[in-house]
Amino acid sequence: MKPVKKILLGFILIFLIVQMIQPARNIDYGQVPSSDISKIYQVPQKVQSILKTSCYDCHSNSTDYPVYAYVQPVSSYLENHIQKGKKELNFNEWGLYSQRKQTNKLKAIANQVKQRKMPLPSYLYLHQDAKLSKEKVEEIVNWIESLPTEK
Ligand code: HEC
Repeated sequence: MKPVKKILLGFILIFLIVQMIQPARNIDYGQVPSSDISKIYQVPQKVQSILKTSCYDCHSNSTDYPVYAYVQPVSSYLENHIQKGKKELNFNEWGLYSQRKQTNKLKAIANQVKQRKMPLPSYLYLHQDAKLSKEKVEEIVNWIESLPTEK
């Protein structure tokens, strides 16, 4: 066998072996938990649907995984974002946050979407539907401003 072929075969083998190492999945088959943000505030249908489509994949206990998310090294790359995102903000666990933390997180959400830092740009390449139009940003910001929080 030619050396080039050997090297290529080596890479394919490594690629296949690496596929067996898969991170634990962020999937919760239960119902919407009582600590979900939608149980704490009146969340308008429109806003809820924007959050679900654009944020919940990284900021909740349940990710809607695309097929390519099962292929390494994409798998680990995505899981890292999910774990980091969840740690910062988890819409499913909103009710477990202190009043102060809730107020701060609401401000952070408004800032992140206004500055277009969220959803993560890398996520938007393959999730066009998660892109926030000007109207959607306004929808989120207006809703946050309407909430009865300590200011
Ligand atoms: C692809 C995953 C992903 C998506 C989708 C996503 N985020 Fe994030 N988010 C992260 C990660 C990762 C962090 C941790 C900080 C960082 O790496 O920038 C984060 C951090 C945050 C923070 C914390 C900032 C702070 O200072 O407290 C807020 C707020 C936030 N995201 C809001 C949102 C909102 C709102 C959406 C939807 C419009 C969204 N994110 C969509 C991954 C994501």
